[in-house]
Amino acid sequence: MYQSSNNRYEAMHYRRCGRSGLKLPAISLGLWHNFGGVDPMENSRAMVYRAFDLGITHFDLANNYGPPPGSAEETFGSILRSDLAHYRDELVISTKAGYYMWPGPYGEWGSRKYLISSLDQSLHRMGIDYVDIFYSHRPDPETPLEETMSALDHIVRSGKALYVGISSYSADRTRDASRILRSLGTPCLIHQPRYSMFDRWIEEGLLTVLREEGIGSIFFSPLAQGLLTDKYLNGIPADSRASKPHGFLKPEQVTQGKVSKAGRLQEIAKRRDQTLAQMALAWVLRHPEATSALIGASRLEHIEDAVATLRNLTFERDELELIEKTLSS
Ligand SMILES: NC(=O)c1ccc[n+]([C@@H]2O[C@H](COP(=O)([O-])OP(=O)(O)OC[C@H]3O[C@@H](n4cnc5c(N)ncnc54)[C@H](OP(=O)(O)O)[C@@H]3O)[C@@H](O)[C@H]2O)c1
Repeated sequence: MYQSSNNRYEAMHYRRCGRSGLKLPAISLGLWHNFGGVDPMENSRAMVYRAFDLGITHFDLANNYGPPPGSAEETFGSILRSDLAHYRDELVISTKAGYYMWPGPYGEWGSRKYLISSLDQSLHRMGIDYVDIFYSHRPDPETPLEETMSALDHIVRSGKALYVGISSYSADRTRDASRILRSLGTPCLIHQPRYSMFDRWIEEGLLTVLREEGIGSIFFSPLAQGLLTDKYLNGIPADSRASKPHGFLKPEQVTQGKVSKAGRLQEIAKRRDQTLAQMALAWVLRHPEATSALIGASRLEHIEDAVATLRNLTFERDELELIEKTLSS
């Protein structure tokens, strides 16, 4: 029987999520890759335990994580049931709906019909009564924003989620969504955008909207799926995401340009006494609007490395300038 470490709250930092009452760990764990039906259950279980032992209270899922779709929720449900159930009140579990899940017109995007059915399926797969955060996983260009937001409001009122969030919404759509949700009485807790040294779109307006609206943020793929680590510096390892047929990082995305930048960034990281992964995480967490960096992992060491980032989150001005120069070269 798993018993969590008594020291689990000692190393982690907890940051307030926007203007809400909820705090999230500065490092959260996502189950997009390496927790599916195709992955060894023992490794998935060990990573969840290690994360929780290190103070990672937040686990991020979505209806479609696997493969096959839905299987990451089943894996997490099984871990929860066997060993973590008595820690439920110490956990923040999120899931999402937006991408394709089942055939026909009701199996993706942002209708009330899809969001509510999908959450019911997710709760069933995980064997829980509620999630802490439920997200609209992507903006739907056809469904009225009012419908998607009122479905989120309904979900909170029905007790199936405590908070709601949005993912990958543009700055303007985020402001609109936030206003609708506030008018319904269910404020938008959090936005989940992609953000890393290699993908900086949120700096063009979204961060300002988050600050003004009091919405928290959790940045996904802060390591650019592994490109901002030492993993690809000497080619594509056989067990890496880029070499797996179901991996979302394709070998052609491991470009010479990215690898060469990663090599130069690693030199800066070394001078800070950090790994490249740690510097990349500290860099996304440098914004006052940042609540959490949402990492992925395929082994325990990735989680340990990420949590050790918290020993040095500050940057000198010349370090930031050198990083800028390297990224724009
Ligand atoms: N909202 C959305 O639309 C959306 C989209 C994508 C992801 N997400 C969320 O964000 C989470 C994280 O995404 P991500 O997995 O792309 O994040 P990431 O942290 O950028 O990449 C994680 C991958 O980097 C590699 N890695 C991590 N630490 C390492 C280290 N110290 N040394 C060497 N390699 C290391 C591992 O690759 P290997 O597996 O190759 O070892 C790991 O699987 C997902 O699980 C999901 O919850 C959300």
